Amino acid sequence: MSQLTDIAWDDFRKLSLQEKGPYFRLHGHEGHVIIAQQFDRERLDSLGLLATRIRRIAKTRNGMEFLQGLLSHKRAMLYFSQPSTRTFLSFLAACEILGLKLGEVRDTSISSEFKGESQEDSIRSFSSYFDLIVMRCKIGGLAERMAWLLSNSERPVPIVNAGSGKDQHPTQAVLDIYTLQRSFENSGGIDGKRIVFVGDLLRGRTVRSLSHLLTQYRDVEQVFVAPAQLQVAEDIQFMLKTAGINFTLTDDFRSQLPSADAIYMTRVQDEWDAQKGESGKVDISRFCLGVDELALMNDSAVVMHPLPRREEISTAVDRDPRAVYWRQMRNGMWVRAAMIATIFETHEKIMEWAGI
Ligand code: NCD
Repeated sequence: MSQLTDIAWDDFRKLSLQEKGPYFRLHGHEGHVIIAQQFDRERLDSLGLLATRIRRIAKTRNGMEFLQGLLSHKRAMLYFSQPSTRTFLSFLAACEILGLKLGEVRDTSISSEFKGESQEDSIRSFSSYFDLIVMRCKIGGLAERMAWLLSNSERPVPIVNAGSGKDQHPTQAVLDIYTLQRSFENSGGIDGKRIVFVGDLLRGRTVRSLSHLLTQYRDVEQVFVAPAQLQVAEDIQFMLKTAGINFTLTDDFRSQLPSADAIYMTRVQDEWDAQKGESGKVDISRFCLGVDELALMNDSAVVMHPLPRREEISTAVDRDPRAVYWRQMRNGMWVRAAMIATIFETHEKIMEWAGI
């Protein structure tokens, strides 16, 4: 089995994402959660089952007490040095469901980073006090580096990547898969579906991670709808080609609406603009979903969004039963609880619990 303790950083760094994936697993399941490439279909299926199980158990007081007793001896650090509402709160809620105690740093202007401490040293310090580190940061690849570093330290604490730079958002992608699994529960599952991504596909990390996870399913077609400047990057196109996946790039949103099984909307990620206000010049009016676009969609199709949204989905769409983005958000809490439970190897106890 590949282990981070068996490989020097300089050798590890050079591996492809596909090759890195297995290094983040422990005993065949999540050790650290860093990149989408570490999940295979079997893992996605079992995380989905576990998330549903936790969701059901949590409905009763008795069940909640059982869950909260599972990891009440553990502490988690939420280190979010980039803005976040949902991801932060859903990790917080997921940890609370499992009884973990919490610490947080969100504003680095009042942490030692302000005194010039490197993020690496900060994270290493967290490992002295906590048993799990959930981190979101602007620097792509930092979560990966920290996973290697901590695995090779005297406190090999697991790291969960809650969004790194423009490159990866693996826990969001797993919750998106869970949402798709649930949406297509009675229509043959994710296999054979047509998934349409819309918006800023160049800098949206959720799209990058999800596009990869979808390659685990049979005959899924991926469509990327974006203005030319924001079209999905070449590394993703290369990944899809190599995996033999049928995909299309287009800037014609309307033509894709009737055949879509899921529409995955995203906002313009203008925080990454090289020059401030640069992407404000891109006309995204043709990449927005309102009631007119809804009318062209299939009755069984779903509309997803990692949120936060701006004008790309009109609030009038919220009332349509095909809009699943609020449910998608809540799914995130259950999926994250499932991941944390697995990291600490309490998943079997949950699956076997006879209280419901
Ligand atoms: C996304 C992110 O941070 O990448 N948000 C989230 O985690 N739900 C998407 C975004 O910010 O647009």
